Amino acid sequence: MHPHLETVLFDETTILHRLDELGAQITKSYAGRELTVLLVLQGSLFFAADLLRRIDLPLQVTSLQVSSYHGGTVSAGEVTFHQPALPDLQGRHVLILDDILDTGLTLATLRRRLEVEVKPASIELCVLLEKRRSRVAGVRAAYAGFEIEDEFVVGYGLDYKGFYRNLRCIGTLSDNSLFHGEG
Ligand code: PRP
Repeated sequence: MHPHLETVLFDETTILHRLDELGAQITKSYAGRELTVLLVLQGSLFFAADLLRRIDLPLQVTSLQVSSYHGGTVSAGEVTFHQPALPDLQGRHVLILDDILDTGLTLATLRRRLEVEVKPASIELCVLLEKRRSRVAGVRAAYAGFEIEDEFVVGYGLDYKGFYRNLRCIGTLSDNSLFHGEG
């Protein structure tokens, strides 16, 4: 176990086994349709690389960098889009991929902007983790890997102050590491 972790919630084997199931589920749901996967960076990078190779369909991938945490452990309450323009997804079947659904603010904001400004044929959400908590009304992931308690987690794409994304597992940080971070 990484020395900064307090607990491991999901190890690599467990994550990849769940991605086998999610990939099969998405393959079945989108059979016969052209899929465009929209990655919400940076957190979804590792999740996307492993999940998309388990989807047996022709698909396109695009991405957007969006943030709401600004490196800390709680949402800043506002969503920052780091590119001025949204990708052209008019008439496409869009699957938004993110690492975690927490307050729901990020995905609610992104979804609303896509609906109003881009007008895809359909939009669904796929997240690796979903926190057991109340969130922005109407935000629901059609595909979710694991449900977790309302606690701060790192690894497999999830960061604290930009670090820990490259851990193979997902876990909680010890109090000492949370205070100092890697930096
Ligand atoms: C995290 C995560 C989600 C969002 C979830 O992103 O990747 O996009 O917060 O939180 P919410 O449901 O409360 O909106 P973050 O702002 O940390 O950026 P990152 O993906 O670059 O780490």
